[in-house]
Amino acid sequence: MDKIKVGIIGTGYVGLVSGACFANLGYETICLDVNENKINMINNGISPIYEHNLDELLNKVVLKEKLLYATNSRKKLVIDCDVIFICLPTPSNANGSIDLSFILNELKEIGSILKTCKNYKTIVIKSTVIPGSTMNNFLNTIEKFSSKRLGDDFGLIVNPEFLMEGSALNNFNNPDRIIIGYHDHRSKDIITSLYNSFNCPIIYVTFDEAEMIKYVSNSFLATKISFINEIANLSENFNINMDHIVEGVGLDQRISPNFFRSGLGFGGSCFPKDVNALYSLSKQYDSELTMLKATLSINDIQPLRAIDILTDIIDVTDKKVTILGLSFKPNTDDIREAPSLKIAKELHRLGSDIYAYDPIYVNKKINNYDYIKISNNYQDAIKNSYAVIIVTEWDEFKSLNSDDFEFMTHKLVIDGRRILDPKLFDNSLVRLITIGNSKNHQLN
Ligand code: UDX
Repeated sequence: MDKIKVGIIGTGYVGLVSGACFANLGYETICLDVNENKINMINNGISPIYEHNLDELLNKVVLKEKLLYATNSRKKLVIDCDVIFICLPTPSNANGSIDLSFILNELKEIGSILKTCKNYKTIVIKSTVIPGSTMNNFLNTIEKFSSKRLGDDFGLIVNPEFLMEGSALNNFNNPDRIIIGYHDHRSKDIITSLYNSFNCPIIYVTFDEAEMIKYVSNSFLATKISFINEIANLSENFNINMDHIVEGVGLDQRISPNFFRSGLGFGGSCFPKDVNALYSLSKQYDSELTMLKATLSINDIQPLRAIDILTDIIDVTDKKVTILGLSFKPNTDDIREAPSLKIAKELHRLGSDIYAYDPIYVNKKINNYDYIKISNNYQDAIKNSYAVIIVTEWDEFKSLNSDDFEFMTHKLVIDGRRILDPKLFDNSLVRLITIGNSKNHQLN
């Protein structure tokens, strides 16, 4: 039997990472995008997105092995490929529900092409979609536009991703588990053969279960973060260092220290969107997930903890305040829902003169935040500042010590991600305040 040919629709960090990794497993892979610039970059072995090691991998599979190419021809992809992954955006609507229109429009187009296809094609939903989307919306769209039947003429699978930005290639190649939502055995067997080189558990469930597993995973992780952030906020009133709490609690195998770092809250393109979507769904079914409501409200205000500490000590109006780290997490250029933007917006409201430095956001402007003056290095960003807030835990900031803040006008440093060593600030003129550490300690 010929080797399966893989189609990827949508070349964002899920689609392009998945496509490059399938190609790296030896599968001929075609990526579809509507953006000509992205298509050209990919076909030159260059990643349009910033993801660790993706450029090197694309160079290998596109230029050397010629196993992957990008196109804008949906027809060619559908006709040539056996398994077609849908990796399109599912953005939030204003009320927090998700917008499935990108996927529905794509499935209409694919359905119309399937109408004239003789070969069996398996369509795989990899985008994060709320429970019920595939069974209630996607299946009947494909059948309607293709005049074909699931199982007899085409296959349909739900295969959610668990990729973390900054480590997406590793997450793809070494998953904790593979989730396969299926309805017919032919598709199940085809998708199983595609993943046959993986040695993790493969869990076979219904469409709805596969969709729900993704949301419950992200919602639980986000809730774990909001929980430890609230504990950290309370702990500041006691003689407590949060690292010791996380160590002592995290040694319980049932809890673990993972995803238990208190700080300025979670951001990114997934956690806020996914938790909002599941919460919004729960209200439609009169089963409101009140815990997720709390997860979201805690996370909305957590970044402003840094501002509260700051304004308790100095008046920031017309003062230079520095933000170190703009991306929502290290090793990515993604600033979607980043805590840094919430902090900048509040500082702007208070009339501060805002400077920032981020290892990736050099010589760039951020749309709708042109009041943020972005420096080319952290030294310039810090100089003559009244306060510095560490917002993203980039490695570059972890070794900072009191000398690095020597040229501040007022020497106040707020460590929002608990990465600085307080001992390096003892007996210095710099006042270091660490989110989640006892205020008592911080009065030195
Ligand atoms: C997340 C999920 O981890 C991944 O499984 C899913 O497929 C996509 O969404 P990602 O958003 O890329 O991945 O980043 P992640 O590393 O999960 O961090 C999300 C946010 O939580 C970041 O803002 C990070 O700073 C914050 N975080 C993470 C904490 O505040 N504390 C922690 O202990 C861990």
